[in-house]
Amino acid sequence: RFREPADACKRVAAEIAALIRQRAAESRRCVLGLATGSTPIRVYRELIRMHREERLSFFNVVTFNLDEYYPIKPESAQSYHRFMSEHFFNHIDIIRSNVHLPKGTVELENVSGYCRDYEELILRSGGIDLQILGIGRTGHIGFNEPGAKRDSRTRLVRLDTVTRNDAVKDFGDLDRVPLLAITMGVETILQARRIRLLAFGEHKARIVQQAIENRISSALPATFLRGHRDAQYLVDYDAAQCLP
Ligand code: F6R
Repeated sequence: RFREPADACKRVAAEIAALIRQRAAESRRCVLGLATGSTPIRVYRELIRMHREERLSFFNVVTFNLDEYYPIKPESAQSYHRFMSEHFFNHIDIIRSNVHLPKGTVELENVSGYCRDYEELILRSGGIDLQILGIGRTGHIGFNEPGAKRDSRTRLVRLDTVTRNDAVKDFGDLDRVPLLAITMGVETILQARRIRLLAFGEHKARIVQQAIENRISSALPATFLRGHRDAQYLVDYDAAQCLP
């Protein structure tokens, strides 16, 4: 629990920086799983600051984002490609070919093969060392909405109505919010060696409590994190207000 979201974001950024530096010292790469949304923005801001002021290099870093709307063009204002470039990748020295996000432009008939390739690429990179997560008001992680199975993998999914309504602030109108997305699965996420879930604000308090206290089941996909060896919730006081 942290007084301010900024404190939690600094903690996660410091952990990521330590991991990147440790791996660089061993001439190894560091594989990060990344999330979009309002929650992790300050993590990226802090990492950019460390890049500028503390010479943190991302030269040995490989990234895989959790999800992307489908269909969507990468240059579209609401795409996660655009989000990640603007909030993070444009400001650091990462090698562009080391950056991976699910593509929102794959032909429908090729999506399942594309998703298998995404999984394969994660495995070939050595697996995700540290995965950043947010949590949706439905209890989704990535876009694994209620009903998502424990053993799900990267795939095309239908977005929950609650999630689509939350996205109206970005798209302006519900009709313009995509119905579908490509997301890493629950199993894909659980295979990360470390998982750090961030949740801030009063509007996340109820779902954080349920994710921690409810029975582990597909009804609330974030409950599956409780089966992981190294998953931590980093929340601010507002998001923690329903916890004992
Ligand atoms: C984003 C993602 C989502 C968000 C979640 C919270 O890549 O996978 O699960 O983390 O919807 O979104 P914010 O942070 O905007 O409240």
